[in-house]
Amino acid sequence: MRRVVCEEWGSPESLVVVEEEDLEASPGRVVVDVAAGGVNFVDALFVAGTYQIKVPPPFTPGSECAGTVVAVGDGVTGVAVGDRVLSSLGLGAWASQVSLAAESVTPVPDDLDLATAAALVQSYCTAWFALTRRTTVAEGDQVLVLGAGGGVGLAAIDVARCLGAKVIAAASSPEKLADATAIGAAATIAYEDEDLKARARELFGGGVDVVVDPVGGSHTEPALRSLGVGGRLLVIGFASGPIPSLPANQVLLNNRTVVGIDWGAWAMRNAADQTSLLDEVLAAVKDGRLHPSPPTQRPLEDAGSVLRDLLDRKLRGKVVLTP
Ligand SMILES: NC(=O)c1ccc[n+]([C@@H]2O[C@H](COP(=O)([O-])OP(=O)(O)OC[C@H]3O[C@@H](n4cnc5c(N)ncnc54)[C@H](OP(=O)(O)O)[C@@H]3O)[C@@H](O)[C@H]2O)c1
Repeated sequence: MRRVVCEEWGSPESLVVVEEEDLEASPGRVVVDVAAGGVNFVDALFVAGTYQIKVPPPFTPGSECAGTVVAVGDGVTGVAVGDRVLSSLGLGAWASQVSLAAESVTPVPDDLDLATAAALVQSYCTAWFALTRRTTVAEGDQVLVLGAGGGVGLAAIDVARCLGAKVIAAASSPEKLADATAIGAAATIAYEDEDLKARARELFGGGVDVVVDPVGGSHTEPALRSLGVGGRLLVIGFASGPIPSLPANQVLLNNRTVVGIDWGAWAMRNAADQTSLLDEVLAAVKDGRLHPSPPTQRPLEDAGSVLRDLLDRKLRGKVVLTP
């Protein structure tokens, strides 16, 4: 088998690919031949050693994958050789094989390709958790999505649209805004060139109902100010780097709410609830209510350059590494 290894915290360029013996199934576990490992912003933070959970090197990055079961260990029931499965494993997905606890794999619906399955878990579960568990969205609500051309951003547009909302997408380039429109945004804001608050209020007279913010930095305060009466700011991440400080009077005004979203920690502490949430997402994909875009596929050896592109804001949508 081959796997990407982070030998020391630092730049993506330091990642290497090593060759090792194939894995064997141990009791209670299954071995999966990985078809695709999803790339997420958190992987760049793990490699840099700047994530809130610091994993000492050496380790294999990659928090989600999909593939085919090739071996099952003693005591495994309900999973068989040949099954197509996905997993949200936290680390280790950027490899040609992974060993997984049998209860941690989920069947991939027949009509969903493995690359798309690998890429949707983290982004779509985060967006679904945010918009159905941490707040709710009613038919006709107005939702502003920042970082709209990224993984979480595109998923949030798809989920908000699926729930009946009207979505404004905000992103840095015409290409990313075109991707956002293609997945269902009704209007766009080029937030590096236009006044985010003024434009959002112009598009949605009276202010928006919900802001989805995976970007942070200088965009968060104008987004908060764009909220109307009872509006909710969903704090998801800080991809731009700086963690914003917000004026409390802007929360008081209009009875707004700032909502923290920590899907990963919630999923780890509430395994049964996460299983239900993932089932809801996959059911919505299966019956066509959600339509995740097929990810760009790059070879395992490109792990470093893909992460560099992510940090340079050059990625559009999701990327998977295919061993
Ligand atoms: N809280 C949770 O449960 C949870 C779950 C998943 C992810 N997250 C967080 O959500 C954020 C987005 O994750 P993602 O996987 O969607 O990332 P992504 O696909 O790389 O998208 C991030 C977007 O942020 C924007 N951005 C602005 N400044 C940036 C910079 N300096 N470097 C990189 N991107 C920049 C980019 O859009 P523009 O170029 O258009 O500005 C980019 O498309 C991350 O902070 C991640 O850790 C949180």
